[in-house]
Amino acid sequence: MSRRKQLYEGKAKILFEGPEPGTIVQYFKDDATAFNNKKKGIITGKGVLNNRISEFLMMRLEEMGIQTHFIRRLNMREQLVREVEIVPLEVVVRNVVAGSLATRFGLAEGQVLPRSIVEYYYKNDELGDPMVSEEHITAFGWADTRDLDDIMSMALRVNDYLSGLFLGVGIKLVDFKLEFGRHWNEHEEMRLILADEISPDCCRLWDLKTNEKMDKDRFRRDLGNVEEAYQEVARRLGILPEGGPRDLKGSGTIQ
Ligand code: TMP
Repeated sequence: MSRRKQLYEGKAKILFEGPEPGTIVQYFKDDATAFNNKKKGIITGKGVLNNRISEFLMMRLEEMGIQTHFIRRLNMREQLVREVEIVPLEVVVRNVVAGSLATRFGLAEGQVLPRSIVEYYYKNDELGDPMVSEEHITAFGWADTRDLDDIMSMALRVNDYLSGLFLGVGIKLVDFKLEFGRHWNEHEEMRLILADEISPDCCRLWDLKTNEKMDKDRFRRDLGNVEEAYQEVARRLGILPEGGPRDLKGSGTIQ
């Protein structure tokens, strides 16, 4: 890891300068945090699984016309991505009541929403990622109305596609968080593309039959079997490394 210049260390990933200009290497850690860093832990093998799961989902989304930052996976814990300027928003799409939506409105978790809800949060750890409206976003210049139209339409397309994909493997996509970045092509034209990661760290995934949680809520709420849940998501998607979970433990040494 020391070969390359580290650009940024986040809670679950480290970003390094990529091999070519305009590229970044995303290294996926096993570190897990919740409640804005108040709860910390390790989920063994999580980095390997999230690298693989995010690769798989970003590739499927590219195939159906969503532009993403993903270029290729480099090894067990790293992927090469396009350098973008991250829009400081966490875009949450919800299909079923859970988490902060349940708390905020005093609703029972599990109720299917009459329509999908898209929410924006200002990405700022010190402030605890406060929820914001389009008015705040445009007034403070984080994005303009055209950007927001693009973000909203991409978020809903991603939701439709991923809901179907997960349904096909017996998983309910309850909600998830996306991040977008500005990418400039060789003609200096800017496009918003999907960035960050899509993994059980930032999605709520429930077993279709039992409603059992298969995501980071197992860590947040101390439900146990966290590693197993992430592995099960990868297994259902058909992408668990060949040797199964044993391969993942060993892969911790691959830097
Ligand atoms: P919430 O119900 O806690 O607002 O979370 C909604 C979705 O966003 C859920 O799938 C988890 C994801 N999420 C993140 O990825 N990062 C975060 O910091 C938070 C609060 C939620």
